Amino acid sequence: MFHAIRGRKSLPIRHQNILSYKNTLYAFVFPTLLRVPHPSDTSKEILSLLSVMATNTMANTISPALPAYGLPRNAQESVRLNGQHDVYTTNMGFLLHPTIEAALLESAAAGPVAVADVATGTGIWMLETSIQLPDSVRFVGLDISDVQFPQPGSYPDNCSFRTLNILEPIPADLQDQFDVAHIRLLTCGLRSDQWATVARNVLQLLKHGGWLQWTEADGTTSAAVQSVPEASIERALKFREAMIAAAKRAGRFNEDVSSLNHVIASAGFTEVRRCIFSSDRVPEMREKASRLAKGAGDGALAMLAKNDPGAIGMTAEEVRKLSKGCDEDFMDARAYLRWNIVTAIGRKPL
Ligand SMILES: C[S@@+](CC[C@H](N)C(=O)[O-])C[C@H]1O[C@@H](n2cnc3c(N)ncnc32)[C@H](O)[C@@H]1O
Repeated sequence: MFHAIRGRKSLPIRHQNILSYKNTLYAFVFPTLLRVPHPSDTSKEILSLLSVMATNTMANTISPALPAYGLPRNAQESVRLNGQHDVYTTNMGFLLHPTIEAALLESAAAGPVAVADVATGTGIWMLETSIQLPDSVRFVGLDISDVQFPQPGSYPDNCSFRTLNILEPIPADLQDQFDVAHIRLLTCGLRSDQWATVARNVLQLLKHGGWLQWTEADGTTSAAVQSVPEASIERALKFREAMIAAAKRAGRFNEDVSSLNHVIASAGFTEVRRCIFSSDRVPEMREKASRLAKGAGDGALAMLAKNDPGAIGMTAEEVRKLSKGCDEDFMDARAYLRWNIVTAIGRKPL
């Protein structure tokens, strides 16, 4: 069992070489965001760095967001996504829900199995999960954009990447192919009336009896809180309100994340269950989670302040100043942001 994120297989030598670049990369690419690397888990860091350093060269320029997606696609965002992976998996305590992991290992013992990571981004979830599972498990990372995919040759042979818009009909060669489909943090790019389409299309990717694991952040539960009496949460509160205003303005503030289980049940999934974890369950993750959440806001608010200055009632300079103030307040998690992490799992009927 690997769901407790223990007992990893060792990384190949070419992956270990990346360690020597680690400090330079942190300093050069993203000086403040990952101020607190996870102390206990080197392979996550290695994967994050590998994935970013090996990302398509396009992603190392400042690339604009594609239509209908509120975040930029560039190296800085890739680092943020990979750090966010650490926050989510550490607070959840698993990469794959134990029920799904057990089913997958049972199927793997009987024959070839495949896992799809839908809206894979940098592929960080799938690359780490591939290290934990037998090499015979095939992984395919699917995303509407290939800009954040790692470069071919920089990931294990049982992993591959392919572009796919999950809102469009599934191509015939991908139908009924996968034993497990994983989705995480896709809804920031979707209106809530599009989730049902995603669930129906994912059902098509899966073999009969295959499992879906879908994890999202519930923004309605987000809050600025403090861990010591002297801390101030005022700037964090203001930043949180601006992020929500921006998301609402873009039609991307999702009120219904806590009912993700109903969305997948309505699409035809059975054996549906839901887990709700708190982003501050593991205290060591609080500062990092806050900085990363704010990092998503930084990009979105900077874009909005530039393109639609009236929308959040702040200029780009005011956003920058507020963000810097939050950086100070988040030090040692004196003040921090928290929210609910919702995971729905379900099975395609046999
Ligand atoms: C916030 S990122 C999450 C990436 C990854 N799942 C993770 O947890 O690190 C959201 C991803 O969804 C992708 N995306 C947005 N709309 C999509 C669509 N219609 N079909 C497939 N991918 C989409 C974006 O390109 C982006 O890579």
